[in-house]
Amino acid sequence: MKNTMIHTELLCKSFVSDGEVNNVIKNMTLDIKKGDFTVIMGSSGSGKSTLLYLLSGMDEVTSGKVELEGKNLTGLKEKQLADIRKEKMGFVFQAINLVPDLNIYENVASPTYKNGKSRSENANKITKLLETMELTQHEKKYPNQLSGGQKQRVAICRALVNDPEILFADEPTGALNSAQGKNVLDTFTSIHEAGQSIVMVTHDLKAALRGNRIIYLKDGRVDGDLRLEDYEENQKEEREKEVYRFLKERGW
Ligand SMILES: Nc1ncnc2c1ncn2[C@@H]1O[C@H](COP(=O)(O)OP(=O)(O)O)[C@@H](O)[C@H]1O
Ligand SMILES: [Mg+2]
Repeated sequence: MKNTMIHTELLCKSFVSDGEVNNVIKNMTLDIKKGDFTVIMGSSGSGKSTLLYLLSGMDEVTSGKVELEGKNLTGLKEKQLADIRKEKMGFVFQAINLVPDLNIYENVASPTYKNGKSRSENANKITKLLETMELTQHEKKYPNQLSGGQKQRVAICRALVNDPEILFADEPTGALNSAQGKNVLDTFTSIHEAGQSIVMVTHDLKAALRGNRIIYLKDGRVDGDLRLEDYEENQKEEREKEVYRFLKERGW
């Protein structure tokens, strides 16, 4: 049995606009396991991004709770949450862009500021990540000199630089062409194989195939929960059929 990384209990999130209450996440009780590559799917507006923001403590719950490794995140002060996010979480979100005035190396280095590690330890980590993501020759360039896929890989390096317990990604292949997307997914597969816990929102079937669990959201509730074998390139077709059937049953 894998350990629980994130536990939610009767999690609710509502937004109020023009006096109308929109209940987006409804009484969700969920466990995210350590070492899993958890994929969150569901139609547009089903609450996927909202759930990711709640799981990562980036947004406040309306009611219920979110625990990270047994620690209740609900009710913590913003500073405490910011420290936990910095220490334990990595983010690849479309809304969090690279800093245009920093070069690639500096972008990846930015979360290491005051992370308690020595300068050389951080430098080694950054160098290694840039190497793994085949970005070493671009480290002095600025974001606007890179392709979409390269920028996404920089964002992944930056998300991983502090060795997060868990990596959150919202539609990481959404803005990429298929070669760039494959590159990013290969990276996710390899870090998952190395033990990284990942929670990824996607509506891309190819991306979903890389996970070992797919949670399907419908109207703010869990409508399906599929466990898969670990990803093997040579079993792609069978896996694709299984996932496709699961999604089709849910009107995807
Ligand atoms: N900050 C916000 N303020 C008001 N409504 C929001 C906010 N964020 C999301 N919503 C609403 O919550 C619902 C789910 O949004 P979202 O979680 O982004 O869906 P998904 O990522 O599955 O497409 C939508 O109806 C959206 O309009
Ligand atoms: Mg979304």
